[in-house]
Amino acid sequence: MRNSNHLIGLLNFLTFLLSIPILGGGIWLSSRANNTDCLKFLQWPLIIIGVAIMVVSLAGFAGACYRNTFLMWFYLFVMFFIIAALIGFIIFAYAVTDKGSGRPVTNRNYLDYYLQDYSGWLKKRVASDSYWGKISSCIRDSKVCSKMGRTVSGVPETADMFYSRKLNPVESGCCKPPTECGYTYVNETFWNPGGGLVGTNSDCTQWSNDQQQLCYQCNSCKAGVLASLKKSWRKVSVINIVVMVILVIFYVIAYAAFRNNRRIDNDEPYGEARMTKSQPSRIQL
Ligand SMILES: *[C@@H]1O[C@H](CO)[C@@H](O)[C@H](O)[C@H]1NC(C)=O
Repeated sequence: MRNSNHLIGLLNFLTFLLSIPILGGGIWLSSRANNTDCLKFLQWPLIIIGVAIMVVSLAGFAGACYRNTFLMWFYLFVMFFIIAALIGFIIFAYAVTDKGSGRPVTNRNYLDYYLQDYSGWLKKRVASDSYWGKISSCIRDSKVCSKMGRTVSGVPETADMFYSRKLNPVESGCCKPPTECGYTYVNETFWNPGGGLVGTNSDCTQWSNDQQQLCYQCNSCKAGVLASLKKSWRKVSVINIVVMVILVIFYVIAYAAFRNNRRIDNDEPYGEARMTKSQPSRIQL
């Protein structure tokens, strides 16, 4: 009895520790929301799940310490739904970031991003006019594009240096025109129209050297945001899967220990030194 209570207490304490990486992931996502991702609603489920695990494991811990059956039931009951929510969230995160990646470009070290490579709920959401207005002004305010500038002894880096850089998806999609448009490089965010535009991509006419405009209205920028979200969500999902597996194991052990507790408790009134498995009915507390 005492031993399995200790075990449940310990498991709950470890579960409490597990909520920290989940919360950390949520907070990391929201800190990224201020610079590259610019989508603030997506990290909330994670923060809520993290806080819920924290609260419920504390309840379970208290339940084990004070041998409070109600708190233990509360823990087992609510934790079941939290695990279900976490699994749902992991599936959701993979489903919405399922398709799409950048396209390699010849003689460039960075990728170009195309909105038609993406699909699904998140794409519709990001590409919708009302939402894109908010996201694009967030990207503008984050100054990712001006931070991209590099100088070599006072002059902007050369075209070749720029072409050999690795750019993140937002920098590539939003801060420069798509490579296929044939603009010539002046600095990272200033490009002159080259010899005749290749006019199939509507982004080519969207590009502006106005440093407040750039390619913020381009489809490539929307694709860049989606690619960036995909990257950060995949990272968070890895943490979530690891935490989820450990949570399930702890849950099963805690449940077994709790059952064991109750069996011993229920057997005790009969004053038997040994547990009798053949006892026909249990007394419910
Ligand atoms: C590129 O040049 C333009 C015009 O001279 C300037 O306004 C802008 O700040 C420069 N961009 C970077 C990233 O240095």
